[in-house]
Amino acid sequence: MDKARSQQFMQKVVGDAGTAMAAALVHVGTRTGLFRAMAGAGPLAAGELADRTGIGQRNVAEWLAAMASAGYLVYEPDGERFTLPDEHALFFTDPASEYYLGGLFDGLPALMAMAPRLAASFERGGGVSFAEFGAGMPLALEQMNRPVYENRLVQSWLPQLPAVVERLNAGGRAIDVGCGTGVVPLILARAYPQAHIEGLDVDARSIGIARGYAQEAGLQDRVGFIQAGADALRGDPGYDLITTFDVIHDLPDPGAVLACIRAALAPGGTYLMVEPAVDDRLENNLANPFARMLYAISCLHCVPQSLAQGGPGLGACWGPGQARELAMAAGFGRFERLPVRSPVMAFYALSA
Ligand SMILES: C[S@@+](CC[C@H](N)C(=O)[O-])C[C@H]1O[C@@H](n2cnc3c(N)ncnc32)[C@H](O)[C@@H]1O
Repeated sequence: MDKARSQQFMQKVVGDAGTAMAAALVHVGTRTGLFRAMAGAGPLAAGELADRTGIGQRNVAEWLAAMASAGYLVYEPDGERFTLPDEHALFFTDPASEYYLGGLFDGLPALMAMAPRLAASFERGGGVSFAEFGAGMPLALEQMNRPVYENRLVQSWLPQLPAVVERLNAGGRAIDVGCGTGVVPLILARAYPQAHIEGLDVDARSIGIARGYAQEAGLQDRVGFIQAGADALRGDPGYDLITTFDVIHDLPDPGAVLACIRAALAPGGTYLMVEPAVDDRLENNLANPFARMLYAISCLHCVPQSLAQGGPGLGACWGPGQARELAMAAGFGRFERLPVRSPVMAFYALSA
C-alpha cells in the first residue's frame, strides 16, 4: 500500500464531504438573500452583513467562514472581512439570469434526502418513481432549467432551425414532450402567438402546475397541456416542431417514443432533442466537472425513475453516438448536432 496515496485520497474524501455540506449552505445563501446582500458590496464583516440581512450575527459569521473555506467567498484577515467577487456573484444573485446556478442548489436537499430510499431500491430493485422524489421535485427541476430556457430558447436555439421558426410564425403546431411545469410551451406560446402549442408530461403534479402558469399568464386558450405518457403521441400526427428537453433518457422505452415522435411529425417537421452534453465513453467524461454532476444526478434521479417505470435506465450520460444509433433505429433519416455552444446541453435536430 502506498501510504502517501492513501493520505492524499483521505484528504480528497474529507474535502468532498465538506463540499457536499457546503452545497447545503449555498442553498441557505440563495434562499436567505445572503449572497444578494454581498453582491457588489465589497468587503463586509459579519456584523455588517447581519445588519444588511436581518439574520442573526452568529449564524452569519459561521456561514461566512464555511463559504470562504469552500472557496465561494474571499476572506481578508485584516479587519476580518469577506467579499463575494463579482465573478462569483454572477451565479447566485439574479434568478432571472441565464447564469443563475442557485436553482441547482434549491433541488439538492430533496435529491440528497433520497439516498436511503435509493439504497433500498439498489438492494430490492424496482427503482424510485418520479412521484417519490416529492412534491417539490417538479419545481426543483424547473428552477434548475428555467433561467436558461427563458434566455436562450427563442433568442439563440430556435434560430438554428429557421424553417421551424417560419412555420411557427405562420401558425404551425409544436409540442414539448416531458414538459414538466410547462416552461418551454409557455415560452413558445409567448414568442409565436399564431402557433398552436402543447405540452405533455406523465406527471400529474407537473401538468397541474403548468396549467396554473398558463392561466396566470392568460395563455390557457393558446397552450394545451396533456397529462399522458410520451407514447400517447401515437395517432396525433402533424407537428411542425416536437421538442424534448432532458427527457429521452428518463423514459421507459426511449426507442419506441422516438418512433412515435417521428410518426407524429408533419412532412418537413423537425424534432429537437436536447440531452446532456457528454461523450459516449466514461473515460472521456472523467475530467469534465459538468459530467461529474450529471453522472451523480443520473444515478440519484434519472436511472431510478426510469427503472421504476419498467424502463432500461438509459441514464443522463449518453453521448451523440448512442443518440444517433437510437434515432436511426427509430427510422429518422436526418440526425444533426446543432452548433449551439453549451457546456451542459447537446442539441440534435432530427427529421424523417
Ligand atoms: C428531467 S425532467 C425535464 C423536464 C423539462 N423538460 C425540463 O427540461 O425542465 C424529465 C421529465 O420527463 C417526464 N417524464 C418521465 N417519464 C415520462 C413518460 N413516460 N412520459 C412523459 N413524460 C415523462 C417527467 O415527469 C419530467 O417532467
